[in-house]
Amino acid sequence: MLELKNLTKKYGDFTVVNNISLTVEDGEVFGLLGPNGAGKSTMVSMISTVLSPTSGTIKVDHKFLQENPVEIKKIMGVVPQDLALFETLTAKDNLIFFGSLYGLSGKRLKRRADEVLEMIELTEKKNQAVAEFSGGMKRRVNIGVALMNNPKLLILDEPTVGIDPQSRNHILQTVKKLNKEEGMTVIYTSHYMEEVEYLCEKVAIVDHGSLIALGTKEELKNNVNACDTLTVIYQKASQEALEQISSIAGVHQTTIDQNQIAMLVSAKERNIIDIVDDIKNLGIALTSFKYEEVNLESIFLQITGKSLRE
Ligand SMILES: Nc1ncnc2c1ncn2[C@@H]1O[C@H](COP(=O)(O)OP(=O)(O)OP(=O)(O)O)[C@@H](O)[C@H]1O
Ligand SMILES: [Mg+2]
Repeated sequence: MLELKNLTKKYGDFTVVNNISLTVEDGEVFGLLGPNGAGKSTMVSMISTVLSPTSGTIKVDHKFLQENPVEIKKIMGVVPQDLALFETLTAKDNLIFFGSLYGLSGKRLKRRADEVLEMIELTEKKNQAVAEFSGGMKRRVNIGVALMNNPKLLILDEPTVGIDPQSRNHILQTVKKLNKEEGMTVIYTSHYMEEVEYLCEKVAIVDHGSLIALGTKEELKNNVNACDTLTVIYQKASQEALEQISSIAGVHQTTIDQNQIAMLVSAKERNIIDIVDDIKNLGIALTSFKYEEVNLESIFLQITGKSLRE
């Protein structure tokens, strides 16, 4: 469905997207994960023809985007990171307006707007001005706009940032449903690893414009270097405790956050119970500890030495 080859975007000497190659298969939910400023939106802008690449190629549905932009745009729906809606218009009129830009008209346009209102579950509020909507509801209308032309490829750029948990949940469910029931291929951009973990079969992790990991979640997790996370909670965590823990065999990448010290550990390298014993033997009173199996967050931490949230 989508093939990027050596995709690069530079602003002067500053490389924002650096030589990225990847393929998204038909029917896949593909996660594009990366921290702020990684270059995610720039990639989305190039795929949606808003920006042209400095070099490299983009193929959608086996056709070069640069050669067939009009044709390709018809099968793509893009939900931009920033809302693009008319606040004074109603939800339905926004859908009608943007649907007409896709070339829909008459009864087909009205019917599609009604269908989309059902999908985004805003039928009851369809005649209300978008200005009166919550952030989450506006996001849903923004997604609705991208669904008006019934795209084969739907690209969402951080659709859940800054909204309430209920709307967030609703958006995740809608994306799942569109993929399962309509067979839509989805590219889901986020810096929330739990969302990508939940939705996506395949994941690309980008940082500073470069692709640092690519594969199915299983492939990424089975990577020999992938570690689990052990967090110990103290009444008061000190820099001294951090240093002592850092020197324990099998402990990597320690970080301190208030009363917690987190570390990466690998069961392949050393028995976790032994590590916990060593920590207890330091003689600093522990309140509790928690253990999390390898996830995308720890993979990211492992590769870059920093957290996705920083
Ligand atoms: N027009 C521009 N000129 C110069 N630099 C730019 C321009 N647009 C974006 N950048 C820079 O490119 C980098 C990547 O930005 P981009 O918006 O693609 O990141 P992102 O991964 O989408 O981040 P976020 O999670 O914050 O949305 C940033 O460092 C940004 O400052
Ligand atoms: Mg962005």
